[in-house]
Amino acid sequence: MSYNFPVTRTTHPKPRPEDETKLGFARYFTDHMFVMDYDEGQGWHDGRIVPHEPFLIEPASCVLHYAQMMFEGMKAYRRPDGVIQLFRPDMNVKRMKNTNERMCIPDLPDDLLVAAVEALIKEDVDWVPSAPGTALYIRPFIFGDEVSFSVLPAKHYKFMIILSPTGSYYAANDGGLATTRIYVQDDYIRAARGGTGYAKVGGNYGGGMRASLDAMKYNCKDVLWLDAAEHKYVEEIGTSNAFFRINDEVITAPLDSGTILPGITRDSVIQLLQKFGIKITQRKLSIDEICEASKDGSLQEIFASGTAAVISPIGWLNYKGTDYQVADGKVGPVAQKLYDNLYGMQTGAVEDFMGWTYPLNVKAE
Ligand SMILES: Cc1ncc(COP(=O)(O)O)c(C=O)c1O
Repeated sequence: MSYNFPVTRTTHPKPRPEDETKLGFARYFTDHMFVMDYDEGQGWHDGRIVPHEPFLIEPASCVLHYAQMMFEGMKAYRRPDGVIQLFRPDMNVKRMKNTNERMCIPDLPDDLLVAAVEALIKEDVDWVPSAPGTALYIRPFIFGDEVSFSVLPAKHYKFMIILSPTGSYYAANDGGLATTRIYVQDDYIRAARGGTGYAKVGGNYGGGMRASLDAMKYNCKDVLWLDAAEHKYVEEIGTSNAFFRINDEVITAPLDSGTILPGITRDSVIQLLQKFGIKITQRKLSIDEICEASKDGSLQEIFASGTAAVISPIGWLNYKGTDYQVADGKVGPVAQKLYDNLYGMQTGAVEDFMGWTYPLNVKAE
């Protein structure tokens, strides 16, 4: 379907961040945003682009009380020729469908997300950064917006998209890689079987903040979650999936428990490793096995993968008060190779040999 979203341009454009090497993550937002409404009986209607600014919400709106909402995370990259491109947006559409189904949120037409993202970026194209390690982070989200305290799906929703020029989430914002320390959380849990772990919903993150504060107390950047039933098997790291390289085999947790977010970067890493001929296994891996491997020298690498994190190598795990070093604590060769190829393809510096990039009909000067 072809869409034509009316545009109201801002009369107060914001100054662009002066130094693209100091963008941080989601500190700046562009001038415009996309908004669309859903009403029972009418479906999704009135998609439009308006200035990015605060909006009014009724204090009794159901999302503020029962959190019926979902979100997605994706990025747009500026190629050397100025064309702006997305990375595997069909996977975001698919994950959005699964999340909407879990949260009883009315689904969007399949082609709407990319059409809305393209129309919005067209308005804010000069906000897409080009410094090494940067991208335009895209945050689509939907929330129930009905005045109701009944614990039932809403009859009115808003779908919005906001944009933020960003650097990297974990490492120093110089476009390079650096290792971080991660705290193994063996008390609180993120998601249990039958819950919403596989869906991208705010509640998964709100419930994790207590654990993030614990991690900071131990001078760690983020949390490695263990499974809810036994607090024994590794699941994911903060807002990314986790990979462990032991004895030349890369291992990541399987998705069948429904407790782990199926990362688009995770899927891409698995496919790239297969392409490179590096052994990759999806299996349950216990934290004890990792600590043993750290002690006997067979733990070669740990890295996190995600849209925000890209590939983030881990140098140390802190578990039950003890530090476990990963090899020499430095960036490993597999993480570096994945980063170079993935971010290279995303930005157009490396030829897209996987058919994953999605050029938009938008070009920067
Ligand atoms: C909990 C969690 N796991 C994994 C990921 C990685 O997913 P993706 O690679 O699609 O960004 C994210 C980020 O979206 C996340 O929030």
